[in-house]
Amino acid sequence: MGKVNLEDNDTKEKKTEFSLVRVKDTWKCKRGKKVTADNVSAAKIYESITENSTSWTVVSPIVFTYKVTETRDLLDPSNQTLLLGHINDPQQLEDMKKSNKQIRRFLVVDQEVYKFYGPKLTEYLEANKVLYKILALPTTEENKSMTMALKILEEVNNFSLDRRTEPIIAIGGGVCLDIVGLAASLYRRRTPYIRVPTTLLSYIDASVGAKTGVNFANCKNKLGAYIPPAAAFLDLSFIQTVPRRQISNGLAEMLKMALMKHRGLFELLETHGRMLLDTKFQADNRVHGRNCMQVASQATRIAIVTMLEELAPNLWEDDLNRLVDFGHLISPALEMKVLPSLLHGEAVNIDMSYMVYVSKERGLLTEEEKHRIINCMVGLELPVWHEAFTMELIQKSLQDRLKHSGGLVRMPLPVALGKAEISNDTSCEILHRAYVKWCDELSVSSDSNSDS
Ligand SMILES: NC(=O)c1ccc[n+]([C@@H]2O[C@H](COP(=O)([O-])OP(=O)(O)OC[C@H]3O[C@@H](n4cnc5c(N)ncnc54)[C@H](O)[C@@H]3O)[C@@H](O)[C@H]2O)c1
Ligand SMILES: [Zn+2]
Repeated sequence: MGKVNLEDNDTKEKKTEFSLVRVKDTWKCKRGKKVTADNVSAAKIYESITENSTSWTVVSPIVFTYKVTETRDLLDPSNQTLLLGHINDPQQLEDMKKSNKQIRRFLVVDQEVYKFYGPKLTEYLEANKVLYKILALPTTEENKSMTMALKILEEVNNFSLDRRTEPIIAIGGGVCLDIVGLAASLYRRRTPYIRVPTTLLSYIDASVGAKTGVNFANCKNKLGAYIPPAAAFLDLSFIQTVPRRQISNGLAEMLKMALMKHRGLFELLETHGRMLLDTKFQADNRVHGRNCMQVASQATRIAIVTMLEELAPNLWEDDLNRLVDFGHLISPALEMKVLPSLLHGEAVNIDMSYMVYVSKERGLLTEEEKHRIINCMVGLELPVWHEAFTMELIQKSLQDRLKHSGGLVRMPLPVALGKAEISNDTSCEILHRAYVKWCDELSVSSDSNSDS
């Protein structure tokens, strides 16, 4: 709408654009685009009057600011990040540090994580004289429900949490972070929360974006919100207690970003994947020395930045062309079909492995590139084939995707190592040819792997 007081003769509609200007303690509508006062809001109101009705369209830009911080020794009592790292305003931080007011924090911790890190966490909070409540919960995929979110909310309410100054802290894997994020988004309409990921998958994926959620009506993450945390604090040392299979699981999402966007990350995983699995992203002086920590930090940093590049401009996922969907077209149906035998990243990897064959059949990847990718997957100890991944499942999933993706399949496909494009025109014949080859070449090796 360009002009003020436009009269459209056909519909007899009178449109007016208003800016909002603060006058003392109130806001006032001022006509026109050219309002230049200092105290003018970014919001606008557009009024439209016709013979039969008057309507006001509000355009109110909402800005989300959140911080993702990689840090060391998060639970060292002298490290203030967990308690104050989310505060961006230097003056507020200064005031906080000077004031004698006791810090209060409500924390939700995955029960398994609490077993390993509970004493250290308690020590940290005590040393910093925090008044705290820790809720240790079995935040498993089966419990990822509204019931669990409500349980948390009840306790938050009992704690009489002040939503302005006391962010809720979630410490755990993606399940814990997702449930707490949703609960916080509901409490008093939006209470800030902090994510501390303790699995590799949540470190490079769930912590970086804005999504929260719980499972509902037998569907993954059907209830949720796009509300980012105030901050995510990442400390690789939590990963040292994560079981090896769960590390492979996280490496699948890392490989996804590598294949879509970053050849350097692919080469890092190709060369050092095994070492990352062996050392669990920790410095291991006996075998690998300092090199290990350098590789681990480099890999996580690239994974985080490439993920942020894709998510930040599309926080609410309005743009349906998303490279981060690679490996996520058929895998949700596979994951649900064989539940609980495949972890999320494993199902994603099987999907990616098949898509690599699709790319090869379309002439987008060479045979050598295909081999390198599949070998890298095997090196990361990820499954590359599954008997439940059938042609029928592929067709059904792609049809569903057409329905929910604005009539286009929007299939991300690798076109070189670390490069990808979104395709909408892969024929059934190619899908089928790729499937036959994929089964021929990989079903045997996967069968022999499954015994080990
Ligand atoms: N919000 C998002 O953008 C986003 C992105 C990706 C995944 N997710 C969600 O994340 C979930 C998967 O996350 P996940 O893979 O972290 O699974 P998870 O939260 O179930 O954790 C996996 C297992 O590891 C244990 N664990 C966690 N940290 C540990 C540690 N440091 N040491 C030992 N054991 C530990 C947990 O108790 C659990 O048994 C899914 O529900 C998925 O929907 C969300
Ligand atoms: Zn995923």
